[in-house]
Amino acid sequence: MARVSSDHEHFSSRWTFILAAVGSAVGLGNIWKFPYEAGQGGGGAFVLVYLGFVFLIGVPVMIGELAIGRRGQSSPPIAVANLAFEEGRSVFWSILGWMGVLGAFLVLSFYSVIAGWTLDYIFKTVIGVTGQVTAETSGEVFGGLLASWERMAAWHFLFIAMTVFIIARGVTSGIEQAVTYLMPALFVLLIILVAYALVAGEARQAMLFLFQPDFSKLTPNVVIQALGQAFFSLSLGLGAVMIYGSYLPKSVSIPRSAVIIGAADTVVALLAGLAIFPLVFAYNLDVGSGPGLIFETLPIAFAQMPGGSIFGFLFFTLLTVAAITSSISMMEPMVSYLQERHYVKRVKAAIGVGIAAFVFGLGTVFSFNIWADVKLFDRTFFDTLDFVTNNLLMPLGGLLVALFVGWAMRFASVREELSSVSDGFFARIYGLLSVVCPIALVLVFLNVAGLLSFG
Ligand code: PFF
Repeated sequence: MARVSSDHEHFSSRWTFILAAVGSAVGLGNIWKFPYEAGQGGGGAFVLVYLGFVFLIGVPVMIGELAIGRRGQSSPPIAVANLAFEEGRSVFWSILGWMGVLGAFLVLSFYSVIAGWTLDYIFKTVIGVTGQVTAETSGEVFGGLLASWERMAAWHFLFIAMTVFIIARGVTSGIEQAVTYLMPALFVLLIILVAYALVAGEARQAMLFLFQPDFSKLTPNVVIQALGQAFFSLSLGLGAVMIYGSYLPKSVSIPRSAVIIGAADTVVALLAGLAIFPLVFAYNLDVGSGPGLIFETLPIAFAQMPGGSIFGFLFFTLLTVAAITSSISMMEPMVSYLQERHYVKRVKAAIGVGIAAFVFGLGTVFSFNIWADVKLFDRTFFDTLDFVTNNLLMPLGGLLVALFVGWAMRFASVREELSSVSDGFFARIYGLLSVVCPIALVLVFLNVAGLLSFG
C-alpha cells in the first residue's frame, strides 16, 4: 500500500464525509454562477446539457478522483505519484496532482473575491441599504461595490482570513461541525426563497425558461460552458475531491457517495434557478446580465417581502457559509502538500497560501474597476482566470483522472477500490470513465481550440 503520512486525518463517518463533499460542491457555483450561466446560455438547452454532463461525465470523474485520493492516501501530487508507482506507471502522471493544486489555488483567488461580495451584502442588509433597493436602483448599488477596489479588497481579505482560520485548525473537526448544521439550514432557506419567488414572481415564465429547451440556442460555446460549469459545480479536476477522498474511510462506498453528492448539488442549483428567474422576469431584469445577476435581483425581492431584511441577512450569510465550505476544499490540497511533503506546520502553510491567494486575488478585484480595460484576448484578468480554470484546467484534470483510472491503473485495483457495487453497476461506471468521458472531453477540447464545430 502507498505511503501513509502519520498525521493524515480521516473523516469520522460516511455521513460527515458526504456533508463535507456536498459542502465543497455546493457553493457560489450553484447559487451565483449556475443561474447567470443558464441565463447567458439561453436557459433550458443549457440546463439539459448541464444535467447530462453532471451525471454522465461529472459523477464518473468524481468516482475516479475519490478512488485515486483514497488509494493514494496523500495530498494530490504525492497521491498520484504513489499510485502511479504502485501500478507500474510513469511518475509523469503526478502532473495531474500538480495541475490540481495550482488550479485550486487560482480558483480560490477569485472565488474569495466573489465571496467578498456576499460579505458586503450581509453588511448592506444589516445597515439597511438593501431595504430600500428597487428594480431601478439595484444595479447602481451593485455597481457601487464593483467600482470600489478598496472595499472589495477588504472583504476579499476577510474571506481569505476566515478560510485560513478553519484550515489552520485542521479539517475534520472544524468542517465536520460546521457543515452538519449549516448545509441543512441553507437548504431550508433556499426552499423558502423558491416558494416566495414562485408565488410573487413570474413562475410560469421561469419554468419555461429553465426547463423548455430551445436547441437553436445551443452553440459550441454553450456546450463548453455547460461542461465547465458541471466540473466547477462538482469541484472536479482540481484535487479538492481527491484530497477529501484521501480522508475517506475505507468502508464508505465511493460510487454511492458520488451519486448522492451529484444529486444534492444539482438540486441546489435548480432551486437557485427557481428562486431567481421568477423575480428576474417579474421585474423585467436582463437574464443575461452575467455575474451580477443574484446581487441585483434578490435584494429587490428582499426589499419587498415581509421580514425581507432578515431573509436577506440569512441568505447572504448562508451563501457565505456555502462559499467557505467550498473554499476550504480549494486551500486544503496545497496546505496538505506543504505539510506532508515539506513538513511546514499546518498553521504556517495555511497563512502562507492565504497571503498568496489574497495578493493574486487582487488581480480579480482590479478587473472590475482600475483594470477593467486591461484585456488579454478581449478578456479581463478575472474573465481569463475563470476561462482558464473552468474551461481548460478542470476538464483537463477530469480527462487525466479518466485516463489514469480507466487505462493506467490495473483493472483489479480499480475494482477493489470500488468493490461496494455490483458487477453491473461497476461495468457502467468503468465504461463511462474509460471510454465515454475521454471521448467527450477530447471533443470538447477540440472545440475549445476551434478545430471542430458542431454548432
Ligand atoms: N464547487 C464549488 C461551487 O460550486 O461553488 C466551487 C469549487 C470548489 C470549485 C472546489 C473547485 C474546487 F476545487
